[in-house]
Amino acid sequence: MQDSVRSPDRPDSLRTDDQPQELCPWWVGYLLASPIRKLFERPDKMLAGLIRPGMVVLEPGPGMGFFTIEMARMVGSSGMVIAVDIQPKMLEGLRRRVARAGLLDSVEIRQARPESLGLSDLKAAVDFTLAAAMVHEMPSADWFFSQAAYVSKTGARLLLIEPKGHVTDARFQNELRAARDTGFTVVEPRGGRRSYSVLLEKTGR
Ligand SMILES: C[S@@+](CC[C@H](N)C(=O)[O-])C[C@H]1O[C@@H](n2cnc3c(N)ncnc32)[C@H](O)[C@@H]1O
Repeated sequence: MQDSVRSPDRPDSLRTDDQPQELCPWWVGYLLASPIRKLFERPDKMLAGLIRPGMVVLEPGPGMGFFTIEMARMVGSSGMVIAVDIQPKMLEGLRRRVARAGLLDSVEIRQARPESLGLSDLKAAVDFTLAAAMVHEMPSADWFFSQAAYVSKTGARLLLIEPKGHVTDARFQNELRAARDTGFTVVEPRGGRRSYSVLLEKTGR
C-alpha cells in the first residue's frame, strides 16, 4: 500500500497504466495559451468558487499559463500559485506571460525533474491543485497523485481535467483509482463533451 505522505522526492511507484509516456511539444504551449481557447474553456468559470485570496495553489504542468494568470489574480497578493513544469521553454513562455500581466509576485515558477516534481518543501501546504491536461503525461498516475497528496492539506481540493479522445475512459478511471489510493475522494463529477473532469478532496486515509 502506498504511503500518501511520503516525501515526493522518493517516488517509487511503477507505471500502472501501460501507456507510453507522452510529452506535449513545447511549441504547443503557444496554442494552449491562446485567447481563442477561451471560446471553449473559461478559466474564470471553471475555477469559480474553488480559489480564494491568500490560498496556496499548485499548478503542475502549467504549460505557458492558460490557467495560471487567472489563478494568480484569484489568490491575490496574499496568496501564491506554484507552477511547476518539466520543459524550460514552457516555463520561459509562462514567465513572459505572467510578467506581462504584472503578476510575477503571485506566481512561483519551478522546474520539475524527471524523477520528481520537486515539491518536498510543501508538505501539507497546498489549498488547491489544478491538474489540467497533464496527468496523462506523468510517469504514472500513482506517481503524480502520491506527490499531490503529500503537498495537499486535509480538505484541500484538486480539480482533475483530462482531454477526451486523447485520454481513454479506462485511463481516466485508472487516474481516479490512483487518486483514491492516495487519499483523495470525489466530491463532484464535472466534465462535458470535450473533457473528463472531477473535483477531488484530500480526505486522508
Ligand atoms: C498538455 S500540456 C497542458 C498545459 C496546461 N495545463 C493547459 O491546460 O494548458 C501538459 C504540460 O505538462 C508538462 N509536463 C509533462 N510532464 C511533466 C512532468 N513530469 N513534470 C512537470 N510537468 C510536466 C508539459 O511540459 C506540459 O507543459
